[in-house]
Amino acid sequence: MRIFHAVEQVRAGLAALPRPLGFVPTMGALHAGHLQLARTARQQCASVAASVFVNPTQFGPGEDFERYPRDVQGDAEKLSGAGVDALFTPDAAVMYPPGFSTIVDVGALGAVYEGAVRPTHFRGVATVVSKLLHIVQPDVLFVGQKDAQQSAVLKKLVRDLDFPVRVEVVPTVRESDGLAMSSRNAYLSREQRAGASSLHGSLECMLEELRNGADASRAAQHARAQLDAAGVWDYLDVVDAQTFEPLQHLRAPAFVIGAARFGSTRLIDNILVSA
Ligand code: PAJ
Repeated sequence: MRIFHAVEQVRAGLAALPRPLGFVPTMGALHAGHLQLARTARQQCASVAASVFVNPTQFGPGEDFERYPRDVQGDAEKLSGAGVDALFTPDAAVMYPPGFSTIVDVGALGAVYEGAVRPTHFRGVATVVSKLLHIVQPDVLFVGQKDAQQSAVLKKLVRDLDFPVRVEVVPTVRESDGLAMSSRNAYLSREQRAGASSLHGSLECMLEELRNGADASRAAQHARAQLDAAGVWDYLDVVDAQTFEPLQHLRAPAFVIGAARFGSTRLIDNILVSA
């Protein structure tokens, strides 16, 4: 696997690779969920590129940018083992040189749920992914269903700005107790970790209530009670899969979405209800 730090180098290096080229953007501290994206890309594409970049513009003030786990050496080994051909891992000064000021904002979809709790988050994601798509120029962009709203934002970005790329959403990889794998799970204490799988249990409860005909607020009322006592809800809802507008009743395609805090660690999860 070749490793690149500069824009011109990565462009030249990737130009020589056979097409189609798959691309897996990440912030590193890689786990089996990220690697599933790389393996799926390996199966579907002739060449695979990945990026590791802890993107400062998608973290708000007081969030975990400084303490976000970093292990580029270990990440490179894991990506190489998953069959990735090229890794782009730039410094912040490469992505955001002095004078940088252009922002990409997808509008209402980026302002609800995760966007309401983290007002500048999806702008940062849309901006950095726009840059990465221009630099890497892949044929297929691989993203995780784990971050369902982010995947919807990126699909909208690609559609609205005519990026010549297909977006492939890969199902969520979970721990054996149902907890969605996340780099942030490493922040959980033993006690918080034990209770954290109740987030997924609550989403399943919500879906069952909805399938039994309950409306969203009644279903959420029951399901909220399933969360471990150590957790505090940010939101629990059922939304249209494309727009993330709240639904009164289940109407596929939809996501049951939830976010909860365990101490200072925020966990998110979702269940896709296919049409
Ligand atoms: P990061 O949190 O590192 O995630 C990189 C990709 O891995 C995302 O597409 C995410 O949805 C996917 N992913 C994470 N956990 C997963 C799991 N348990 N199962 C399946 N896929 C999973 O998301 C970001 O980085 C950044 O916002 C980024 C898109 C790279 C822009 O900076």
